[in-house]
Amino acid sequence: MIDTGFLNDILTLAILCTQWGDTAKGKIADLFAMEWADIIARGTGGANTGNTARYRDIEFVFHQLPPGMLSGKPNIIGSGVAIEPCQLLDEIRELEKIGGSADRLLIALNARLVLPQHIALDRLRESQGQGKIGTTGRGIGPVYADHVSRLGLTMNDLLNPDVFARKLKRNLAEKLQLLMLYDEATVRAVMQQPILGAGAYYHPTRILDADAIIERYLAYGRELRQFITDTDAILREAQGKQRILLSGTQGNLLSIDYGTYPYVTSSDCSIMGLAKGVGLRERHVDLALGIVKAFYMTRVGEGPFPTELGGELSADHCREATRDSEARMSTANLNAETEFLKGVAIRQAGNEYGATTGRPRRTGWLDGPLIRYSAGQLTGPNVILTKLDVLDGMREVKFCTAYEYLGPPYQYGTRTLKPGDEITVAIPDPEIMRHCRPRYEVLEGWPGPIRYAEAYDDLPAQLRQAITYLEQTTGVNVTLLSVGPDREETIFVKDPVR
Ligand code: IMP
Repeated sequence: MIDTGFLNDILTLAILCTQWGDTAKGKIADLFAMEWADIIARGTGGANTGNTARYRDIEFVFHQLPPGMLSGKPNIIGSGVAIEPCQLLDEIRELEKIGGSADRLLIALNARLVLPQHIALDRLRESQGQGKIGTTGRGIGPVYADHVSRLGLTMNDLLNPDVFARKLKRNLAEKLQLLMLYDEATVRAVMQQPILGAGAYYHPTRILDADAIIERYLAYGRELRQFITDTDAILREAQGKQRILLSGTQGNLLSIDYGTYPYVTSSDCSIMGLAKGVGLRERHVDLALGIVKAFYMTRVGEGPFPTELGGELSADHCREATRDSEARMSTANLNAETEFLKGVAIRQAGNEYGATTGRPRRTGWLDGPLIRYSAGQLTGPNVILTKLDVLDGMREVKFCTAYEYLGPPYQYGTRTLKPGDEITVAIPDPEIMRHCRPRYEVLEGWPGPIRYAEAYDDLPAQLRQAITYLEQTTGVNVTLLSVGPDREETIFVKDPVR
């Protein structure tokens, strides 16, 4: 187990993903929750999240619960989170089944409430094909849209039946107009999906049955009321006195404000959004550790991905493929002839299938320009490299050092981009990213298995060289390494820079 002595003078620590999510943040958050924190909080996202924590033979995927729940310490779902109460209750029951407890769970009274209309609209929009984002179908976009439209409901509304009914009816009146834009049969089919109570909320003329929603949601409120409280006030009080672990969700490149918009989620999953989503200010964070999956990366859903292994072929394949269909691809291996097949093999070796949706994650080489943008400009230089063991035994590993812009002339503020221009710090605008061709440096691969390494010096020289190269070309400071899924498979490298 790592010694957390390097955090001795830290009181508020934030863990954030610098990529498109799915970087084993769950394991790292669970580790610090167990070994270091007094209190754990998340402030963004919702049921779209999938954070896996594993200890010995117990594995648990946290969707709405904070990833520190296995520690038995206070865990906060902050005000910036979108909560779907039925799934949250299921998750609490799942946690109890493995011997965990929700006794010290605290839920922000002003967290955004996900209602059936949000899930229905998310799924209907995605079913249209055009403008598809590839969402997780958990109602995330519509619930945050309601929040900024000043039409949203909160967890506290569940505790006040009259207020809940009044706000719900006002919200539904607007949603009915939107739902009428879709083909009736499609709407009916979506409303029959299990996540929408298998038709329990469907009304033949009004589409959404207000009475059915009121009855079920107030019952959820009664079950959750013991947890609902002013968590912003609790954290402001704890700030500067207790060790607070803030756990990010998704990743900087999926942030509504700093990601590859519009191919993003709908909360600001950067450090700014995380602090705000728990009622703190960014300056309260003493140290931010950015997670970088290495030496490959992944993205789920639509949107530009310059270093994708197999390019468009991979993107198309991932829209249809499943874990089972890929298991039959006997030619896929880490040293396969084609980049596409290497990409499939990395997905299999890294178990890169969505923790929430089961979708295959697109795989690509590690992208230096994106690290320079995301760690360099958003989270800061200190990083944790994760999943390093996945590429064990690969003969060569490519690393993208820069992009060559190949699109038409494009005005980006005062900067005019022309074909042939070099880009060394990524610009998260899809109009630019989709025309970027990566320039690669080929690094020597390393022999495995590395998961038994206990210290940095135990790692193969080729891997240590690759890490040094990454630091030199992107300016990051590697603090920790994760070489396997268990908490113990974590190696301290050096102190964070301040
Ligand atoms: P939404 O958050 O469900 O609206 O989905 C918007 C985009 O964010 C889609 O491309 C999703 O695949 C992606 N996304 C949302 N949550 C996660 C996550 O936890 N990991 C990776 N991608 C995510």
